[in-house]
Amino acid sequence: MILAGKTAFVTGASRGIGAAIAVGLAENGADLVISDLPQQAADLDKVLGRITATGRTGRILHLDVTDKAAIEAAVAEVGQIDILVNNAGILIPKRLEDLDEKTWDAHFNVNAKGVLLVSNAVLPQMRARKAGRIINIASIAARQGVPTQGHYAATKAVDLTLTRVYAQETGMDGITVNAICPGIILTEMGKENLGSQAAMDHWSNVAALKRLGDPDDIVGPAVFFASDMSRFVTGQALNVCGGIYFH
Ligand SMILES: NC(=O)c1ccc[n+]([C@@H]2O[C@H](COP(=O)([O-])OP(=O)(O)OC[C@H]3O[C@@H](n4cnc5c(N)ncnc54)[C@H](O)[C@@H]3O)[C@@H](O)[C@H]2O)c1
Repeated sequence: MILAGKTAFVTGASRGIGAAIAVGLAENGADLVISDLPQQAADLDKVLGRITATGRTGRILHLDVTDKAAIEAAVAEVGQIDILVNNAGILIPKRLEDLDEKTWDAHFNVNAKGVLLVSNAVLPQMRARKAGRIINIASIAARQGVPTQGHYAATKAVDLTLTRVYAQETGMDGITVNAICPGIILTEMGKENLGSQAAMDHWSNVAALKRLGDPDDIVGPAVFFASDMSRFVTGQALNVCGGIYFH
């Protein structure tokens, strides 16, 4: 129960990696605020059920991470947030030459600007308490650059830069900011992106651990960054990819 007494806020928490992190943080003692788009309400309810089954409390926000006013109002209303997990993200694969501006803008709005807006809404109270943990879910795509994911990889590279700069701008107030770079994780996004069993088999074989990721594989690193175990780690990014990328 290394997160006992803490409240964590996870965006995009209705499914996939966000849901796994939210439940995993609750299993380690945190109370939760979980948010996602209004159309994800039913899935978010199910995640809330898994959180309360651990004995922790949970609260739901129907929130678009691109809506600055709604984020600020929601954060003011929920009160103390000790741990923020910027997890909400989108991926619509397209070659750069086929990319339209709308798709480019949508990715930068959700994956990059969303991290800025939610972090900036939460940081004043963290600074006031001289404590806080921010965890940004980036991607190994940010490091490697992946065909059909140029725009997505660019947004995730922004997240790594935000992680490093926020760390330096907030460390004096006892706040750490770190990133997790998942590899291929079998969520709806991950499966859609792979597209075929052949691709799944190929990447399983490439991975040093000879399998692709499960959302629960991200929980341990998230708990580490959320807890005092990582108290002297900030501005860093951890690849959690089963060994498909090594830099
Ligand atoms: N699955 C992978 O292989 C993989 C790999 C690397 C990084 N990631 C990252 O992990 C995070 C979670 O991805 P996932 O695989 O669980 O995907 P997912 O599609 O299953 O979940 C993403 C969640 O974000 C929510 N979301 C999208 N736009 C939003 C918005 N504007 N406001 C609020 N919520 C919004 C979605 O409704 C969804 O619940 C993302 O940031 C993704 O880029 C995933």
